[in-house]
Amino acid sequence: MSEFKELVFSGVQPTGNLHLGNYLGALQKFVALQDSHECIYCVVDLHSLTATMAHDDLADQTRSITAAFLASGIDPKKNIVFNQSQVLQHAELAWIFNCVARIGWMNRMTQFKDKAGKDRENASLGLLAYPSLMAADILVYRATHVPVGDDQKQHLELTRDIAQKFNNDFSRRIAELGYGVDMEVGEEKVNGFFPLTEPLIDGAITRVMSLRDGSKKMSKSDPSDLSRINLTDEADAIAKKIKKAKTDPEPLPSELGGLIERPEAQNLVGIYAALSGTTSTSVLTEFGGRQFSEFKPALAELAVEKLAPIAGEMRRILADPAYIDGVLREGSGRAREKAEATMKMVREIIGLIDG
Ligand code: TRP
Repeated sequence: MSEFKELVFSGVQPTGNLHLGNYLGALQKFVALQDSHECIYCVVDLHSLTATMAHDDLADQTRSITAAFLASGIDPKKNIVFNQSQVLQHAELAWIFNCVARIGWMNRMTQFKDKAGKDRENASLGLLAYPSLMAADILVYRATHVPVGDDQKQHLELTRDIAQKFNNDFSRRIAELGYGVDMEVGEEKVNGFFPLTEPLIDGAITRVMSLRDGSKKMSKSDPSDLSRINLTDEADAIAKKIKKAKTDPEPLPSELGGLIERPEAQNLVGIYAALSGTTSTSVLTEFGGRQFSEFKPALAELAVEKLAPIAGEMRRILADPAYIDGVLREGSGRAREKAEATMKMVREIIGLIDG
């Protein structure tokens, strides 16, 4: 039996505006992967209901993330671009995974603990089950690789736990029906229906920090707009925010070791590296010994060159919501076909009568 074909899947929630952290942590990687892989990119609108049911303009936020995908350079013909709620199979598989996963697994998720806060009894059931829907998003396509930020690593581990438990619980049926696929798990060769999906987290910067405080993640909910570069910022706003970014008085070091305990310097060097497609080491080879008064203008110029065209393109695309809806409709049709092929087998494995 053959191995799983490599397939990339990722999802972005339609909440708030995207910023540089989302671009470097997700979108830029999505764009790079489309040259080497078959890719499916999803706006996960059902996930955004776990925070608040009553959203301000959920539809417009979904369009805005889609526009950001397209403006960043994701080709919706070559890849599949769609919104989660149009492919019902995600919700169907999520229900099945709710019955595979254990409450204890969900209770251990740090994202759940952070978001639920102290009053866990009052959190929505959807917030608790969030990772089960995420596992369904990925596994309904039997995707093998998922580019995500490092905060999603734990959810990917849980996705593997769910896949493994399903593969074990139904191993006999999977074998009888001949639906198993060989895969390597460490040194071992195993056979299962769902792949054990790997996260793709590496890159020049795995976590983009606030421009005002190098110990906090760049975030859409930070009250200071100077703390982040929004994907919709125009050139002068981008340049101004970089020039005002917090730094320390020392010149840049020539080696990585010199960035330890200098979180703001480390962040700006990482941003430069990620935007220029190099490493922090080679940025320091170029700028080691120089002051921020020289480095910041170079970074501002690079950021404007890379990001301002995306903002412009986003505005152009957003002016035509019917076009965006068309892209999502067409992508959903293609996604549905693939998802339904998996679900037909899943129903048969489980014993759900299907027609
Ligand atoms: N949980 C992810 C986040 O907040 C979003 C997401 C939902 C996702 N489903 C996914 C990411 C599937 C990757 C794959 O960033």
